[in-house]
Amino acid sequence: MKNIYPFKSKVCPEQRRQLMQQEPQLVWLTGLSGSGKSTLALRLEHHLFHRGYKVYLLDGDNIRNGLCRDLGFSEQDRKENIRRVAEVSRLLLDAGMVVICAFISPYAEERELARQIVGPDRFTEVYISCPLQVCEQRDTKGLYAKARAGLIANFTGISAPYEEPPQPDMTIRTDKESIENSLDKLITFVEPHLRLQQRMKAAM
Ligand code: ADX
Repeated sequence: MKNIYPFKSKVCPEQRRQLMQQEPQLVWLTGLSGSGKSTLALRLEHHLFHRGYKVYLLDGDNIRNGLCRDLGFSEQDRKENIRRVAEVSRLLLDAGMVVICAFISPYAEERELARQIVGPDRFTEVYISCPLQVCEQRDTKGLYAKARAGLIANFTGISAPYEEPPQPDMTIRTDKESIENSLDKLITFVEPHLRLQQRMKAAM
């Protein structure tokens, strides 16, 4: 960037890890609208918070009410949405937080960009998998009905694509498993990655 001179903090990442007593990690939930991302993300955040983790949830519907309120649902806008969210996540991770993101994030390319922005070591991709028919049947927000009636353009699964993650770190089938089981699986997978790891002295 021209005429911009980024500088480094005098507080190093290791000092922050020690203060926060956790490994900063981003858990990225991707899946169709109505697949259960927000429900699971809220429950995961609640669980981790009460286990003493410093954790913060970023969710599509909330972020689109503020930081990304100027964006719509074209391919370009969705990519910008995810880029901004990944940049915010990077800052939160640098501050030592555990971050949960729940976004449809339908394009493989934008999820890859998010991974690169925060750094692959700090990024865990969880695919919240649920067939379109089931999401449409649930239609908790009534949006699928509106999309079918032509009242919402570019609706994921109806008039806009969803690219399944080819190699997610974990897949949860919310059509086959209860919320409780899904949550248990998620916690069992995620929590060990958040515990402070022993580092070699040289890293201090
Ligand atoms: S993303 O595709 O850019 O990742 P994001 O997760 O932020 O989407 O927002 C999805 C939420 O926006 C949905 O849960 C739904 O409530 C709402 N929404 C409104 N219009 C659309 C649309 N065209 N496609 C998908 N979701 C939409």
